[in-house]
Amino acid sequence: MGYSIIGSTFNKIKAETLYFVPLGENLEIWQMSVTNLSKKLRKLSMFSSIEFCLWDAQDDATNFQRNFSTGQVEIENGVIYHKTEYRERRDHFAYFACSEKLAGYDTQRDVFLGAYRSWNTPLAVERGRSFNSIAHGWAPIGSHHVKLNLKAGETRVVTFVLGYHENPKDKKFDPPDSQIINKRSVRPVIKKYLNPVTVQAAFDSLRSYWEKVLGLYQVQTPDKHTNRMVNIWNAYQCMATFNMSRSASFYESGIGRGLGFRDSNQDLLGFVQMVPERARERILDLASTQLETGGAYHQYQPLTKRGNNDIGGDFNDDPLWLIVGVAAYLKETGDWSILDASVPYDNKSGSEKPLYEHLERSLKYTLDRLGPHKLPLIGRADWNDCLNLNCFSDTPGQSFQTTTNKDGKVAESVFIAGMFVLAAHELADIAERRGLNTDANNYRQAADQMDKTVHTHGWDGEWFIRAYDDFGKKVGSKECEEGKIFIEPQGFCILAGIGLEDGLAQKALDSVNKILATKHGIMLQQPAYSKYYLNLGEISSYPPGYKENAGIFCHNNPWIIISEAMMGNGDRAFDYYLRINPSAREKIGTLHRCEPYVYAQMIAGKDAPTHGEAKNSWLTGTAAWNYFAITQFILGVRPTYKGLMVAPIIPAKWNGFSVSRIFQGVHYTISVKREGKGNTVRLIVDGRAIEGNIIPKPPSGITHVAVQALLS
Ligand code: BGC
Repeated sequence: MGYSIIGSTFNKIKAETLYFVPLGENLEIWQMSVTNLSKKLRKLSMFSSIEFCLWDAQDDATNFQRNFSTGQVEIENGVIYHKTEYRERRDHFAYFACSEKLAGYDTQRDVFLGAYRSWNTPLAVERGRSFNSIAHGWAPIGSHHVKLNLKAGETRVVTFVLGYHENPKDKKFDPPDSQIINKRSVRPVIKKYLNPVTVQAAFDSLRSYWEKVLGLYQVQTPDKHTNRMVNIWNAYQCMATFNMSRSASFYESGIGRGLGFRDSNQDLLGFVQMVPERARERILDLASTQLETGGAYHQYQPLTKRGNNDIGGDFNDDPLWLIVGVAAYLKETGDWSILDASVPYDNKSGSEKPLYEHLERSLKYTLDRLGPHKLPLIGRADWNDCLNLNCFSDTPGQSFQTTTNKDGKVAESVFIAGMFVLAAHELADIAERRGLNTDANNYRQAADQMDKTVHTHGWDGEWFIRAYDDFGKKVGSKECEEGKIFIEPQGFCILAGIGLEDGLAQKALDSVNKILATKHGIMLQQPAYSKYYLNLGEISSYPPGYKENAGIFCHNNPWIIISEAMMGNGDRAFDYYLRINPSAREKIGTLHRCEPYVYAQMIAGKDAPTHGEAKNSWLTGTAAWNYFAITQFILGVRPTYKGLMVAPIIPAKWNGFSVSRIFQGVHYTISVKREGKGNTVRLIVDGRAIEGNIIPKPPSGITHVAVQALLS
């Protein structure tokens, strides 16, 4: 966790490199150990290499007329310093150090690689000697050459440190009137981390950090894929999505969008328990980008923490996600003080209001924007960024999200209606616990009203309608030629509790099962759009079966999984869970084509020529939602305001399972045993039977609680 080891053995030389970033540092360690497995002395040359980015990846890849002249480096005691633009407005630089005495180095890419060559055959490596090149412009790199003479059986460890440092503006140079980097602060850091003892200690702390984080929820079930994902990889992916949102990975190049408002709030669902302080900070950062109208920038930049003007706002579901994120945080931590934190609107000083008021405005934002059927207006899009009912785009390359050319007063979203009901209930619960009973009643009434509206205008007979377009025509209805049924309103209306009692929910779920479910997961909609529809936007721009056009968008499969669990359908919920579980899909790895331990954003739907092929792993809301679904709804161990709920909805054939969960500082060991076929639960807490399925918080001083849950 938080490290990679890459190794190989060739000609009886074994090499293995450990890569990791020590906690709290701006540097990466590469620790390479080389072993001579042969019976004779071997004389080896080792070359490190790194290509430096000229700080701005977009500019680096495009602005060659400038960039080929700006590159600068320094070399001191074998440490390579990359300092492009440091002479002017930048006060940061990179460094690359090696623990061994150097036989040579290179800092100019084209010299190191040689003419007409590339990274697979660098000339320096081939000839066994560096060129000692100094980069003046072109493409600065860092490469060390180390010679190793290894006796038979001998192992040597070589450490490299690749770091980044910022100097105060008035202390950039040393001596002050020179152009030489002031290295006073980094020299001790380099010395520290070139020492193998420090490296080992840093690696040990990284491991214990992860043991602690993953130790918050550990499960033993009869299914190895569930165990593998819940105990390690799904949790790990939740950390990655929290850290990066959708901003920097192989799929999200890191030069486009920042952190999504909706995305980051959702990511909290899988993250709040891990590092609550960081979740708190994220919530406050997100709320600070909210606008006074209650609306939100769709994205914000993590470094400046400012809303992203290029994309703007008007994604009308966005503000509601703040309520969902905050509710998850409150249930997990019990930290009610966050609601009183003073948070600005749009980062403007003087506009600060308690977070609770931000939540109120989030809800009001929907009520201020109701359409002809009194359903919420969709704006530029709702959860489905690609269902753009107010952006009729007919020009190649135009942004589907920002080309708004309709007045937005007609197109409505049933998905937002469902989400509103859910958020209004969450806010009502929060208000009630703060003693604000009038607020709570108002929110519940608003929720009930919207619930009725969904019944009247959002129900199609067999499933929930998706939306109304700018002409007031239904989207996601049997009346449509294509795109008759969508997954989102089925999932979110049921999550909100709509139709649970009058049979609509079950009907909708049966329709999902009949029309949308495939063996590779549940498709986003059916039938796929076979052509481009100007009035629907980006959704129909994808070929059938891909992405939002009837792909299996893994992100919202858990909404159906949770809905099935809410209806008590343990077998179906778990069956859906396994269909997209990456570990369970390992056996069809050649078709799936993504890591067997990371959720992908999308698996191609049945209309695609590559049905079952996954794409865009790592940074997707799928991680948080699946973690939420399996841990809190199928395994059923769920934080609530009153205590820890244990309400498993598991497959009939499971005899039980056990969970170890740390919740608000108390360690719960829960052993679930099946006594009958159903999922009705009886709890025995520390030897005593209790009423209901929520374990009340133990008196202070008690740090361990043993729970037996009997299912009948
Ligand atoms: C976005 C999400 C969006 C989803 C569905 C993702 O790329 O990050 O915000 O909900 O697509 O359109």
